[in-house]
Amino acid sequence: MTSTRLCILSLVFLVALSGLAWPAPRARGPVILPGRLGTPPEQKSRDAWQQPERVLEALALKPGDTAADVGAGLGYFTWRLAGAVGPTGKVYAVDVDSRSIAYLKHQRAKRKIGWVEVGKGGYLSPRLPEGSVDAALICNTLHHIRSRAAYLVNLRRTLAPGGRLVLVEFKKVREKQGPSIEHRMAAETAIELADKAGWKAVARLDLPRQWLLVLQPNGREVSRPR
Ligand SMILES: C[S@@+](CC[C@H](N)C(=O)[O-])C[C@H]1O[C@@H](n2cnc3c(N)ncnc32)[C@H](O)[C@@H]1O
Repeated sequence: MTSTRLCILSLVFLVALSGLAWPAPRARGPVILPGRLGTPPEQKSRDAWQQPERVLEALALKPGDTAADVGAGLGYFTWRLAGAVGPTGKVYAVDVDSRSIAYLKHQRAKRKIGWVEVGKGGYLSPRLPEGSVDAALICNTLHHIRSRAAYLVNLRRTLAPGGRLVLVEFKKVREKQGPSIEHRMAAETAIELADKAGWKAVARLDLPRQWLLVLQPNGREVSRPR
């Protein structure tokens, strides 16, 4: 055996041994399962079709405002909203999923963003203080909410005067990637539903794969549907 071969063989043996001796370090914090919880926040590929800057523009947040990320998931928008309102503002990150909440809290500590308040919402209401929110975002989440009309009535009560809601959902078309057709919604369906819950659409945008609606209270008093 030549000395070069011997050298390579020893190296292979050492690498194999090191793998046995030092198992891969465990990641700290909660384990995040991909898929069900949505796109990991750092995934750059989402930015191309999500166009977060246009969503932020529609929310029209300014420093010191209070925003709500309803169905915050892994926080793709939470930290962007936090950037828009700054440390003099506040962001409520609301979700019903305990693992999302744990992850959001972990990220908040890691990013040192004290003005984000992470909380567990209810299935019928985001459970936020009445009259407190300048702009709420519901992105890729409305279709998950079973009692949508009741939820939207309750959400309206949390708005501060002049407040708005931005809704974003995948267009109701079949695509190779993304949610199945059952997890998509037509903008017209959302407008109709929102109208019954006391909202009017004041603007609509087309994103590459989604529609976006800006909604404001329509001035009609609506009692909570059953
Ligand atoms: C597809 S993810 C979207 C996450 C995030 N908005 C985004 O765009 O990356 C939907 C999220 O909505 C949450 N969700 C479902 N029903 C909800 C409800 N009634 N109230 C609040 N969050 C809800 C789920 O737990 C999940 O984290």
